[in-house]
Amino acid sequence: MPQTNTYIDFADGPPATPRARATLDADRYTSRAFMAREWDGMWTRSWLLAGLECDLREPGDYFVFDIGRESIIVTRTEEGALSAVYNACQHRGNRIMTNERGSVPAIACPYHGWTYELDGKLRSVPDSERFIQGLPCESLSLKPVLVESWGGLVWINMDLEAGPLSEFLGVVQEQLAPFRFEDMVLVSDQTVCLDANWKTCIDNFNEQYHVDFIHPQHASFVDCCNAGNELWPYGHRRVLVEGYVTNPRYGTPEEVPPILQAAIRPLGLDPADFRGRVPDIRKAVQQRKREVGKALGFDYSGFTDDQVSDVLQYDLFPNVIMTIKPEELWVMRPRPHPTDPDKCFFDKWTLRIDVPADKARGLSLVGDPKMAPAETQARPERDVFTQEDVIAGTHSMTITIDQDIHLLRDMQAGMHSRGFGRAWLNEDEARVQHFHDWLDIWLDGSALARRSAGAKAAE
Ligand code: FES
Ligand SMILES: [Fe+2]
Repeated sequence: MPQTNTYIDFADGPPATPRARATLDADRYTSRAFMAREWDGMWTRSWLLAGLECDLREPGDYFVFDIGRESIIVTRTEEGALSAVYNACQHRGNRIMTNERGSVPAIACPYHGWTYELDGKLRSVPDSERFIQGLPCESLSLKPVLVESWGGLVWINMDLEAGPLSEFLGVVQEQLAPFRFEDMVLVSDQTVCLDANWKTCIDNFNEQYHVDFIHPQHASFVDCCNAGNELWPYGHRRVLVEGYVTNPRYGTPEEVPPILQAAIRPLGLDPADFRGRVPDIRKAVQQRKREVGKALGFDYSGFTDDQVSDVLQYDLFPNVIMTIKPEELWVMRPRPHPTDPDKCFFDKWTLRIDVPADKARGLSLVGDPKMAPAETQARPERDVFTQEDVIAGTHSMTITIDQDIHLLRDMQAGMHSRGFGRAWLNEDEARVQHFHDWLDIWLDGSALARRSAGAKAAE
C-alpha cells in the first residue's frame, strides 16, 4: 500500500482543500522580496510557537523569542498570568532583554533605566520631571502581543485582532491531549544555524520520499513508505508512521535488525524470541509497553495501540514540527533569519516523560536503561552550533536529523542556480505542497487568510 493523502476539514473553519496549487519556484526560497511578503502577510499575523511554559514557572520568569527582525519578551506576571510584549523600550527603542531567559523583578532597560512591570506597564523613569511633555503611562508601556499556552507550549500572535489559538489549531489540541506534553521534562535544547531558508527546512521534514536515500537505517525500524498523511485547514499537516516494523520494500528479514534489537531490549523483550517472526514485534511492543509502564509508573491507558508503538508527526503552520511518541516529544522549529533568506535558525527541544528506569531489571521506556540519568537533571542550557559542527561530528541532533542537516545547504545552493526553475513534486510530497498552498493563501490576503488570522469580526 503506498502513502495515502487525506484532506480533513475542521468542524468549524475554512475547508482544508486548497483552491490553487502553489508554484514552488526558486524565488520563494531565495528572494528578499518573498521574505518581506512572508513577514507582512504571515509571520506578523499567525500564531507562533514562542517557547516552553516550563521556563515560566514563577512570577518574574521570562524568555525572549526572536523571530526574524522581531523580538518578544514573554513573562510570568506577579498575578501568575502570561504576558508577552515587544522587546523594544518606549524611550528610544532599545532592545531591552538580550538574555535568552531568566528571572527578574521587573523589565528594566539597561540604557537609561526605564523600568516596566512584568506585564510591560511603565513603572518608573529616572529624572521623570525632565520630561516636560509628561510621561503618559498608557502610551509609554511596552507594546503587547497576544499570548496563550497549550500543552506546556507558549504561543504568541502579533496580530491583536487574531482569533483564539484553539480555533487555529482545531482538532490538534484534542488529538494530542493524551500525550500530556506539560508533564514531560526538557532534556535537550539545541539550535543549529543553517545556510538554508526556513522553508527548505520545513520541506525536508514534510516528505518521506528522501528517507530511503539519506536515512537507509530507517528501513529496519519504521515503515516510512506506507505512511498516512492528513492535510488540515490553515496549512497544518500530520503523518502517521508505523514503528517497530521493517520497511516492506526490502522484504521481511529473518533476524531482528540491530536497531530493533536495541529498541526492544529495554522493554524486556528478547530479540531471539522474534527470529523468523519480525512482523510480530509491533504487537508485542504494544502489549509489553503497557506492562513495563505499570511496573515503572507510567500509564498507557489513555493511548491507542497505534499510539503506543508508532510515530506521529504533527506539522503546525507555519514552522512547528512535532515528532511525537508517548514517551518522548521532539519540537522542531526553523526560524527565519532577520535579513537573509539563505539562513535560518533550526531549534530542537527534546522532552521526555519523567519516569525513572529500573536499572537492576534493565527496564526503561526511553531507551538504554544504563544511559538513563540517576535523577531528573537541571534544565539544560541551549546549545547553539553550526552546520559545520554537525558535519564535523562535534554536535548532533540525532543521526537522522544530522543526515538531513548535511543536505540542507546543498538544497539552498542548488536553488540559486540558473539551471533550476521550480520544484516538481509527487504525491508522496503532498504535505510540502499543502504547506505552500496555505502559505500562498496567507500571502494573497484572501478571505481565508483573514479568517485564519482570526479577523472574523472584521468580515
Ligand atoms: S532606550 Fe530604554 S531607557 Fe532609554
Ligand atoms: Fe530526513
